Amino acid sequence: MIVLAFETSCDETSVALVRDGQVLASVVSSQVKMHAEYGGVVPELAAREHLRNLLPVANSAFELAGVTARDVDVVAATQGPGLPNALMVGLKAAEAFAFAVGKPFFGINHHEAHLYSPWITGSPAHAEFERFEPNVSLIVSGGHTMLVDVQSELQHRVLGSTMDDAAGECFDKTGKLLGLAYPAGPIIDRLAEQGNPSAFQFPRPLRNEDNHDFSFSGLKTSVRYFIRDHPGLADDAQQLRDLCASVQAAIVDVLVTKTVRAAKKLGVRCVTASGGVTCNRSLRRELESACRRAHLTLRLADAALCTDNAAMVGILAERKMKLNAALTEVDAEIVPNWSLA
Ligand code: KG4
Ligand code: ZN
Repeated sequence: MIVLAFETSCDETSVALVRDGQVLASVVSSQVKMHAEYGGVVPELAAREHLRNLLPVANSAFELAGVTARDVDVVAATQGPGLPNALMVGLKAAEAFAFAVGKPFFGINHHEAHLYSPWITGSPAHAEFERFEPNVSLIVSGGHTMLVDVQSELQHRVLGSTMDDAAGECFDKTGKLLGLAYPAGPIIDRLAEQGNPSAFQFPRPLRNEDNHDFSFSGLKTSVRYFIRDHPGLADDAQQLRDLCASVQAAIVDVLVTKTVRAAKKLGVRCVTASGGVTCNRSLRRELESACRRAHLTLRLADAALCTDNAAMVGILAERKMKLNAALTEVDAEIVPNWSLA
């Protein structure tokens, strides 16, 4: 079975081809440099850029995979959540393709695709669903931070999510306060590697609360006040690294503590993590050591699959097909606020 998948929910234009659990090709064209100029994603520009890029990206995916349009058995696209006009480009292109070739279509929930992305591994990338076990999954990106109880394949329940800013947003807004480029997450990650995470103390919001929710806006505000009260500190290269390491430590501490606590509380043996912030080296290390201490198996999405990509959309669509999940009508609309159940 060959699946053609599209992902255009935010600022990545991606097309993938998947066959029997193997990613034959996953091409991602990132718009991040264009949006950096504006300090964040500009929705209208994102949609126009998807329109410009989608066909060339699709053509490269077909070329890389060595298959033709006629070989496609199933078509899938991200239906939501995401930026409305951006979603529209990928969804309508995919639906038109499915209609033209008379093949089944799956509209995929973007978070659900992230949720199963840690099961895609290796080179060439392939799905390892035969090793699936119930898990607690952390989805952590620029727009979302949530903990999900994944009971079995395609059966999950959101335990909690952020009440305000997402963790990635906290990284990006901290970076903005420090005059770093957008997106600041990877830059803070790099600077923090040579900084002292204990140099400055920042709050760990909701860390010790007996719930599965997150809140990062207070942490961002305390960074703002810290910078105001220490003028010039960030001009010193080492102090800047220490500050980045200290803010990052607060974010990572909250994410790791709450994820591991949720896994223990639910009695699952496995933790998974995905989404752009899962690229963060400190988060990966700290999750590894906390899970080792708690005797939990950890599956982190591969770095290339943490950020938005169509491979995870195609793999999930194929799994849905195999597990007889209901198809989507080929004239279905985008669902910009589609929250995970
Ligand atoms: O999943 P993603 O590509 O897009 C969505 O938001 O859906 O995630 C992007 C976010 C940005 O906030 C970016 O700063 C953050 O992921 N990010 C990181 C790192 N790489 C990306 N944050 C911390 N450390 C990183 N290495
Ligand atoms: Zn995403």
